[in-house]
Amino acid sequence: MMIDNLLDGSLREDEFESNIRPQTLDEYVGQSEIKENLRVFIKAAKLRNEALDHVLLYGPPGLGKTTLAHIIANELGVNIKTASGPSIEKSGDLAAILSSLEEGDVLFIDEIHRMPRFIEEILYPAMEDYVLDIVVGTEGNSRSIRIDLPPFTLVGATTRAGDISSPLRDRFGIVEKLNYYTTEELTSIILRTSKVLNMPIDLDAATNLAKRSRKTPRIANRLFKRVRDFALVSGDKKIDYALTTNSLDRLKVDNYGLDSVDIEYLEALINKFNGGPVGAATIATSIGEEVSTIEDVVEPFLLQEGFVKRTPRGRMATDLAYKHLNIEKPSK
Ligand SMILES: Nc1ncnc2c1ncn2[C@@H]1O[C@H](COP(=O)(O)OP(=O)(O)OP(=O)(O)O)[C@@H](O)[C@H]1O
Ligand SMILES: [Mg+2]
Repeated sequence: MMIDNLLDGSLREDEFESNIRPQTLDEYVGQSEIKENLRVFIKAAKLRNEALDHVLLYGPPGLGKTTLAHIIANELGVNIKTASGPSIEKSGDLAAILSSLEEGDVLFIDEIHRMPRFIEEILYPAMEDYVLDIVVGTEGNSRSIRIDLPPFTLVGATTRAGDISSPLRDRFGIVEKLNYYTTEELTSIILRTSKVLNMPIDLDAATNLAKRSRKTPRIANRLFKRVRDFALVSGDKKIDYALTTNSLDRLKVDNYGLDSVDIEYLEALINKFNGGPVGAATIATSIGEEVSTIEDVVEPFLLQEGFVKRTPRGRMATDLAYKHLNIEKPSK
């Protein structure tokens, strides 16, 4: 690991991910309320010598749900098994995962809103009573047998809390929403990544990247990586402010951190639909994007930053959006 860090530029994608991913709650930047809650619940579970209650993490992509799931296992001192909602297709898939768990383990299910309903129903007794009911035998001659499971902690992650059925949601004792990060928090994430990857960056350059990262750690790290490429190629030993500004322009990331899809969305909303109101699906079609990308990735940030507002009749562009795109708002 140490040697890899020194061989600048030689890190593969997955190594990059695992190297820069924080391992403990102390290293995890921001989300202070969630961290303080988890600290208490983890400590209490350990004192009682019980499995931690099931945890549901939700929020836009790239804010650190997967990272947090690994940290929870690490802080509990247990193993983590991972699966994703859409990959669990048959009841046998889930049974195999559940019966591989050891006492206190964390089972992390990513994109848990995409788990088939009949799989969900197998999960209920497992979550509630740590038992697995499976049907054995052939048709006409089948019976259900019940297998005891060790106490475990299910950590579910989703970008769409609204798509989780209420019986499933109700079985999570701990439900936490991840929020967008502040510029200060993202700056400290970038400084940490810079240290881990052994590529120095000036403070004002790190702040510049942070401001243009869509308030999202994954994007901050991705921009850092690209700027690091520009530095490598131009022979710079350190990333400074000018290099970040040039690189961001070349990457088409604007002052607010809006990327080309955000801009396309706003342009369509204003130019094709007169600023709205219009439905998300209509905008998505008009710019050739998936509705889920628009709803899960593009809109949450534009709403949060005040470029768009939601009305009962659809999305509307705000004054800020007109101003940002330098388009005069038509008077009624
Ligand atoms: N609080 C944090 N402190 C430091 N780094 C973070 C933090 N949160 C996320 N990161 C970094 O951001 C990247 C994305 O995080 P992660 O994969 O956990 O996001 P996610 O919420 O699971 O996203 P998705 O919904 O797309 O699966 C990782 O490289 C991780 O190292
Ligand atoms: Mg994830």
